[in-house]
Amino acid sequence: MKNDIVLTGDRPSGPLHLGHYVGSLKNRVHYQDIYKQYIIIADLQALTDNYEHPHKVHDNVFQVACDYLAVGIDPTKSTIFIQSQIPEIADLTIYYLNLVTVSRLRRNPTVKTEIDQKGYGDAIPAGFFMYPVSQAADITCVKATVVPVGEDQLPMIEQTNEIARSFNRIYKKQVFPDVRAIVPEVARLVGTDGKAKMSKSLGNAIYLSDSADVIAQKVKGMYTDPNHIKVSDPGNVEGNTVFTYLDIFDPHTDEVAELKRQYQAGGLGDMVLKKRLTEIIDSFIEPIRTRRQKFHNDKAYVMDILKKGTAATREVTAKTLAEVQDVMCLKY
Ligand code: TRP
Repeated sequence: MKNDIVLTGDRPSGPLHLGHYVGSLKNRVHYQDIYKQYIIIADLQALTDNYEHPHKVHDNVFQVACDYLAVGIDPTKSTIFIQSQIPEIADLTIYYLNLVTVSRLRRNPTVKTEIDQKGYGDAIPAGFFMYPVSQAADITCVKATVVPVGEDQLPMIEQTNEIARSFNRIYKKQVFPDVRAIVPEVARLVGTDGKAKMSKSLGNAIYLSDSADVIAQKVKGMYTDPNHIKVSDPGNVEGNTVFTYLDIFDPHTDEVAELKRQYQAGGLGDMVLKKRLTEIIDSFIEPIRTRRQKFHNDKAYVMDILKKGTAATREVTAKTLAEVQDVMCLKY
């Protein structure tokens, strides 16, 4: 067991998909044996762009918790908590806002991209604009030292370190340690459309809760090689989503290599490949889906895990906040 404290988590704006599995869930199952690991279900962050849909966010807290438990996150090893139920995060966010300029927030490349995608124009909700500051509070409230994230989250870690260092300097105490990001090998999984990364908003995701039929249908519509029209045509393997997925999920690497050879030479149809991929993905998801259904049927049990995880987290965050308020002369 290493001394590092890991903080990781997700916005509950939808159930989790294969992209989450490859990019983070798989690693979290491993990290919980090595580190003290906290997993945040960031419902307040989800609300920054879903504030008109509070029921959706509320329900997805439960859905995401089911996903975590189904993939093997063990509540006796990892502490899962709900962001909104940690008032210390809100307090820290307010304090940190003094340490960040508007122009610095404007430069955050991830937020910039999201603002463009959402088409906010000049009407950016302030809560959305400053969510990196709130995320710095997520990370520092337990004094995390390691944050495993996808590449798109690196600017958040950078900003967290800037805030933590400013805090330590201005209030003349080493309250917060530096935070280190770990980026997984397969940081992002391409979506079924072969375009950007798999994501709910792009509608190109395969969910951990998808039925066998839904998986079959999604694989059927998967992007392959647009120039591979007849079975006899030679096909492209590079950038062919079906092969990208086979490379990641098919354990029979020698057979996949042989299929690539045949595809490139011509004579291998997309249907055959897609049938294989459907089976591979379904056999991968099937045990997760079965476990997930069990948790989903026992909501009281799942919510109790979140309640206990949140209470355990608050014991730590209360100490952090007391220390912060002490150096900021906020004790009366
Ligand atoms: N921003 C992350 C995402 O969009 C979710 C998140 C919120 C998070 N707080 C965090 C991730 C703290 C790591 C650490 O997926």
